[in-house]
Amino acid sequence: MRKIAVLTSGGDAPGMNAAIRAVVRTAIYHGMEVVGILRGYSGLMQEEMMPMTLGSVADIIQRGGTILYTARCEAFKQPEGQARGLEVLRKHGIEGLVVIGGDGSFRGAQALHKLGMPTIGIPGTIDNDIPCCDVTIGFDTAVNTAIEAIDKIRDTATSHDRTYVVEVMGRHAGDIAMYVGLAGGAESVLIPEAPYDLDEVIRKLERGVARGKKHSIIIVAEGAASGIEIGKYLAEHTGFEVRVTVLGHIQRGGAPTARDRVLASQLGAAAVELLRDNVSGKMVGTRNGVVQAVDFDTVFTTPRQPDMRLYDLANILSI
Ligand code: F6P
Repeated sequence: MRKIAVLTSGGDAPGMNAAIRAVVRTAIYHGMEVVGILRGYSGLMQEEMMPMTLGSVADIIQRGGTILYTARCEAFKQPEGQARGLEVLRKHGIEGLVVIGGDGSFRGAQALHKLGMPTIGIPGTIDNDIPCCDVTIGFDTAVNTAIEAIDKIRDTATSHDRTYVVEVMGRHAGDIAMYVGLAGGAESVLIPEAPYDLDEVIRKLERGVARGKKHSIIIVAEGAASGIEIGKYLAEHTGFEVRVTVLGHIQRGGAPTARDRVLASQLGAAAVELLRDNVSGKMVGTRNGVVQAVDFDTVFTTPRQPDMRLYDLANILSI
């Protein structure tokens, strides 16, 4: 394989730059040319691309976001969009593609694979909602960003004897909520994967107050409920002073943690090695710490479940 391309797609995640760097440098190490496609599949269809050199990925390993920009692209879900993508790749002599993103991005990569373009996916999303891998690039950073904010919220919650509801990201997955709930000592954690009972949340708050507890923090994954609605319900049904913070996109930015940089570097390099070995139609991730490739079809059909032991533990420790 003489020439490959790399793109980032879907929501950005800290560590994507480290993955791009690893793809580019590994490919150049092996004597290949690399093209960076801008703005995901949307940029691919519009031929937005630039040659990547050793220098073009210098000084990015520590930066959040993605130097290739990213987009969510409806048109690429259609066969016409995919055919156009293939046409552009062929026109530029590209023989393999690395796609860094989440589930939707992998579906585009799978379509190109089926059309005969070798593709490898790298899981990059803060939500950690991709099955068949230990963790996605960006999750560790997002959790650390959220916990830093929650620690600050706790300071002011303590000073004012207030109950705080903090909404964290996670459209379909409660992983961020579970991790920050456990790491931040939250009183309750609401996630989309488990049913919750707001009256039980209230009983727990009231038990805490009866023991002399003056402040509480409730973590809500956006996929479970709106933090604002939960806050309203709690205020109306308890008479406590409740405040709500929606952390939002702050969780998607910032310098990646060392853990995310290391994972991204491993996976970026492995993706190039797989393309060189004529492997295609797979996601590369770690499982039990070991880098492994899994068919996209397996990724799409494997149900994903967060580690509910952590959820149970968060509940036990916040008794
Ligand atoms: O990347 C995943 C995610 O951050 C979700 O947690 C969130 O629901 C969504 O993206 C937000 O998407 P957008 O940036 O398009 O508003």
